[in-house]
This record gives sequence, structure tokens and C-alpha cells, in this order.
Amino acid sequence: MPNIYAGELVDVSAEVLAELPSIARTSGHAFCTIGNGHSAWQMAICNTLSRGEKVLVLDCGRFAAIWGYLAEASGVEVEVLDSEAGRGVDPAAVTERLSADAQHKIKAILMVHADTASSAVNDLPAIRRAIDDAGHPTLLMVDCIASLGCMPYEMDEWGIDLTVGASQKGLMVPPGLGFVWAGQRAVDAYETAGLRVGYFDWTARMADGPVYSKYGGTPPVSHLFGMQESLRMIAEEGIENVWSRHAVLAGTVHAAVATWSAPGGIDFYVTEPSERAHSVTTVLTNNIDADELRHRCEHGAGVVLGVGIGDRASHSFRIGHMGHTNPPVVLGALATIEAALKSMDAPLGGSGVASAAEAIAQHL
Ligand SMILES: Cc1ncc(COP(=O)(O)O)c(C=O)c1O
Repeated sequence: MPNIYAGELVDVSAEVLAELPSIARTSGHAFCTIGNGHSAWQMAICNTLSRGEKVLVLDCGRFAAIWGYLAEASGVEVEVLDSEAGRGVDPAAVTERLSADAQHKIKAILMVHADTASSAVNDLPAIRRAIDDAGHPTLLMVDCIASLGCMPYEMDEWGIDLTVGASQKGLMVPPGLGFVWAGQRAVDAYETAGLRVGYFDWTARMADGPVYSKYGGTPPVSHLFGMQESLRMIAEEGIENVWSRHAVLAGTVHAAVATWSAPGGIDFYVTEPSERAHSVTTVLTNNIDADELRHRCEHGAGVVLGVGIGDRASHSFRIGHMGHTNPPVVLGALATIEAALKSMDAPLGGSGVASAAEAIAQHL
């Protein structure tokens, strides 16, 4: 392990912290927590809110709701506005709810960009417009853990006040780092945030101090080397090209699922094509035994499918297509799933693999 006080690690840390804002497309401040995504959620809550204040959680699956549980456990009042099943959040419902909050009791909106459980994606510029239409001053705080480095995200242009990320998905580094990007309005809220606590407090992390002050102690040495490499890989490919690669691979997965679809069998969970994430796809299996399908893929062919989450657990699975991935990986996974479906005599509308190959062919 290198010296943590001087030399290479200091340079690596400086490079990572300097590059992080470009990933969220912000000129705001980037903070790093040594922890998982939950630690970044907690850091966001502690530095912007006070006990007894109210937040509105816009949930379209599972993860915004869990962020809300953390807020509630931290002493914040939480109201949840759910989307319709299989849909992103309805901007009109946001305008309606905020318009009814004449006294501006709602201090912040907590929501995700892409929900990893449902695979629904929210139209963030439309949510921003919905807030502005209501003339409401709420902070807009967005969890991009399942979309950063996968889907277009423009924190400043879209008027987002705070972004939460983590190392383990589109950023391609093992779990262990959380990130919070704070725009000016979030930093203003921090000035008076009553929930500020020693470890997560931004004060020392924001100051021009030694490297360990940026991390609340010993820096996460190995993860920082990983992040340096990941950010260099993204810069080398070009972030717009990274987004395009994910769009092509998502289109490939969606083409396969659409063709497999059959009554009583495979179907999309997210009903509106424009609301399907480019990083993960939740697939309903209906009468097909999802546990058996995952078992055959994993133990018969070494492909691990994501488990269904929540009330869809027994009749769905998820395909991850984010981060360090490419056509051979995705086509291989789809072909394996199709083979497993055939081995189970599952009803199939057609060969999803053929459709996936056609989708990829248009981009070769
Ligand atoms: C969108 C989203 N937010 C938050 C989390 C929580 O992150 P972690 O499990 O690293 O605490 C996850 C984890 O999968 C996620 O997908």
C-alpha cells in the first residue's frame, strides 16, 4: 500500500475528485463516502435537512422508497408518491402535489433516475418542469446509482440540486464508494442543515485540507486506483459514446424480450418503451418458473440472472447490461436465456436471439 500522506496516492485522489463532476455533468462539488450507496444516501440527507422537515419521495419501484426509510429513520417526515406499476413517475402528479403545498413544507424531493428493481426510468427534465410549474422551491435530489455512466444525465442543465452515485454499477469499480454531487442550492441548504453529523459533514471534506480530510480518515486506497482507471476508461471512450453503447445494448435486450413475449410467458415489466432503463431490464415470466429459469442459466451455463425484487420476486428476473459490457457479452447472455427457456418448453413468440442480432447488426 502506498503512503497516504504524500506521493502517488495524493495525485490519484486529486485526479479522481477533479474528474468526478464531469461524470454527473456539474460544476458543483463532489464528495466521496467510504461505504455503499446507502452511505451516500445518508450523506445527502445529513447535509441538507433538519429533524422534523418534510421530504416527498417519488417512487417508481423500490430504491427511492428505501432512501425514504433512511430519511424517516433520521428524523425527517416522509410522504411517498408512487408511480403507476411499470411506469416512471407522472410529472403531472408532482405538479399537483407541490401546488397543494402552499406553505412549502416539502423541503426536498428524493427520487431515482433509473430504478434497479423495476428498471423504470424517470424523465428528469419533465420532473424539473413539473416543480417549476408549481412554483415550488423544493430541492431536487436524484439517485443515479443505476444510471451514471450508462444513460445521459445532465445535473446542471436539468436543474438537479444534488446527485447520489456509487462505484459498483456504471462506474465499474467494486462496491465500497458512494458519491454525492452538490449544486449551489444543496450547499446553501447545508449551511443550516440540522442533521449534520461529524463523519458525514461536508465542512472538512469541502475545505482545502490534506487528502485524508476528503474521506473522513484514511483514504480508500485500492478503490481510488480503481476509480482513476474507470474515469480514464470513460474519458477515453467519451461519455457520449459510453451512453450510446448502453443505448445499443439496451435496444438489443429489448428486441429479444419483445420477440420472446407470449401470452402467459415472457413480457416487459415497464410498459412504456421510452421509460425502459438502458442499464437493466426487468422481465416478467408470468407462468414460467423464474427460479427454475435462473437455476438453469446459472448452474447449466454459468450465467447469473438478477433476481426479481419485491412483489415480482417469484415471476420475474432482471438482465443487467451496464458498465464494462459489449455485444458478445449481451448476445451470449440472451442466447443462454433463450436456451434455458427452450429447455423448459416455455411459450416463446419467436427467437429473441435473432432479433437481438438484427438490432446489433444495425450498429456494426
Ligand atoms: C438505484 C439504487 N439506489 C441505491 C442502491 C443502494 O446501494 P447499495 O446497495 O450500494 O447501498 C442501489 C443498489 O442496488 C440501487 O440500485
